[in-house]
Amino acid sequence: MNPFVPMIEFQHVRRTFGRTVAVDDLSLSVLPGEIFAFLGPNGAGKTTTIKMLVGLLHPSQGTIRVAGWDVVEHPREAAQLIGYVPDEPFLYDKLTGREFLDFIARVRGMSPRQAQERIAQQAELFQLEDFLDQLTETYSHGMKQRIVFASVLLHDPPLLVADEPMIGLDPRSVRLVKDLMRARAAEGKTVFISTHTLALAEEIADRIGIIHRGRLIFVGSLAQMHQQGLMQDKNLEEFFLELTNTQLQSQSSTDTFTPADSLPTSTPAIPEALPPSQHRSASA
Ligand SMILES: Nc1ncnc2c1ncn2[C@@H]1O[C@H](COP(=O)(O)OP(=O)(O)OP(=O)(O)O)[C@@H](O)[C@H]1O
Ligand SMILES: [Mg+2]
Repeated sequence: MNPFVPMIEFQHVRRTFGRTVAVDDLSLSVLPGEIFAFLGPNGAGKTTTIKMLVGLLHPSQGTIRVAGWDVVEHPREAAQLIGYVPDEPFLYDKLTGREFLDFIARVRGMSPRQAQERIAQQAELFQLEDFLDQLTETYSHGMKQRIVFASVLLHDPPLLVADEPMIGLDPRSVRLVKDLMRARAAEGKTVFISTHTLALAEEIADRIGIIHRGRLIFVGSLAQMHQQGLMQDKNLEEFFLELTNTQLQSQSSTDTFTPADSLPTSTPAIPEALPPSQHRSASA
């Protein structure tokens, strides 16, 4: 992956459902090697954003690129680069965990031998051995979640997208997933998660985006929040509550925070407009 081509690029993205504006004018870039956490109250637009990123929903307006590939115009190329963990784990009830992983490996074009090796690696990593040969309909939520994680990482994609990934996981699995996200970022891969767990965002994210009523109202690192005096002596929870509350009371109030529009959405070193040929070669 070209470290200068954003792994994720949203440009003026809007999504409506009838008269509901779920996501409004979202512009944001995330680089290779970054862990980005998307925070926001219920109904803020996190899942809608993630579904557009992974190609399950089309934006009503604007463009989304994954390593330079437009997700609407080049859905296959983009999808190959993404491992997506949805908010509700989806499995085929009448398959065992192993059969499910084998099925995914085939969809990903792996040879039977490659599939077997990768499934064995993931089974060890996520400690699936005890239940891998049971039907997935017998799994608890956390067991399902671990199988889903294993399945999306089978082909080792450069971008992991996870919607509320920690829900239902026990403490050991939470630790495992955190370590895995950090390890992937250290290898130059990108992690984009949504979460309600402010402590998680604080602990692992390089940058945090706060979305409220479909609008990105803050984006930056914790260090940037501190530098700009935005958080003063508040922790992230207090900051988040104040920010979303301020937005509730008055959409025009800007005296207690810097709106996302005036903050950089990406590292300034990113060349703004790369020719399409460079975009394409970046994903090869
Ligand atoms: N399929 C749909 N049809 C109609 N409205 C929808 C649909 N999906 C989402 N919405 C609306 O879009 C808005 C954003 O919803 P979204 O699911 O993206 O929020 P969220 O930030 O993921 O919330 P949560 O934290 O509860 O998961 C909400 O007002 C929701 O009602
Ligand atoms: Mg959601």
